[in-house]
Amino acid sequence: MKYEDGPKSAATIMNEALSFDDVLLVPQHSDIESRRSVDISNVMSKDIILGLPVISSPMDTVTGTKMARAMYTAGGMGILHRYNTISEQSSMVCSILEENENIPVAAAAGVTGDYLERCYALRESGAKVICLDVAHGHHNMMERALKSIKDQLGDIHIMAGNVATLEGFNALASWGADSVRVGIGGGSICSTRLVSGHGIPTFESVFQCAQTTYNCKIIADGGIKTTGDMVKAFAAGADFVMIGSMLAGTRETPGDVFKNAEGKSYKVYRGMASSNAQKSWRGKSSTPEGISTTIPFKGEVSLILDDLRGGIQSGFSYSGANNFQEFWTKSKFIRQTAAGQNESFTHILRRDK
Ligand code: XMP
Repeated sequence: MKYEDGPKSAATIMNEALSFDDVLLVPQHSDIESRRSVDISNVMSKDIILGLPVISSPMDTVTGTKMARAMYTAGGMGILHRYNTISEQSSMVCSILEENENIPVAAAAGVTGDYLERCYALRESGAKVICLDVAHGHHNMMERALKSIKDQLGDIHIMAGNVATLEGFNALASWGADSVRVGIGGGSICSTRLVSGHGIPTFESVFQCAQTTYNCKIIADGGIKTTGDMVKAFAAGADFVMIGSMLAGTRETPGDVFKNAEGKSYKVYRGMASSNAQKSWRGKSSTPEGISTTIPFKGEVSLILDDLRGGIQSGFSYSGANNFQEFWTKSKFIRQTAAGQNESFTHILRRDK
């Protein structure tokens, strides 16, 4: 028997996709005398400029009020998670507002159920950014939600995601998103690629999305392990980076510190599609696409944020760039081999003693 309408599957294999560890930035001539003078601020919208282009994830083990405050204090942004009631999340927004009305408080919502009611309540409480936070953002439900919020809530900044392709990015931008989270399945606690077989390395996704002609900001999200990865994401075209694991385990994350049998202190970090998280927020779990783990207690997040700032500034200065515009103009990548990757890690730690 033959298939009359052509081959059985129309699947194609696209080009090889690169990850953060596949590339390095080429050091270039610099006249920057102190990396502290490098300006790493970036514009999110006409009223919002972040001095530190780093955003904390809307996850229930990453961003509650303490983390959001710490992020704003450092010049970044924290997205208050949505795994609570509308009134609980609204009170979180209010409590940061009450402190300083110039803070661009950001909070997450979904795209189904009571999402519109939640978005109204968040705006009434003072939120300046609403993040429509779903695993697969290139979707009809996202289109409906974006269009109705844009229509009904006026000019509030809308962040949406996640997407992995330029096609997805352009779709969300055309539906009204002001910024889009780029990256599917790359997060440290993700199992989406294992469960569904889908995803694109985050670096590649960012690189592709940077071809957009929409005036919509790119937020690289998932799999960022170091400031080097952040710098590569920026060079590839990201305006901001979003991180979970790099902040997990700090004092400011929601959740208790507990001690193990050896007396070491830990905090929980979990994917929002993990079985553990699903049971907490909807009482049952089905087909998890994330895991829950423990992270050694890291202490105050402000020290980590200081290091992030210094690392990003250092990264720009190695390309001889004083700011984002110069960095985007000057940066050049090379691909590295497996031997190059090995050399790039602090390899003394891998040697036999
Ligand atoms: P990092 O690598 O910074 O990633 O820890 C944080 C990002 O991971 C995404 N996220 C998930 N992805 N299953 C997933 O596939 C999950 O359960 C999950 N929870 C969070 C999200 O984009 C976050 O910002």
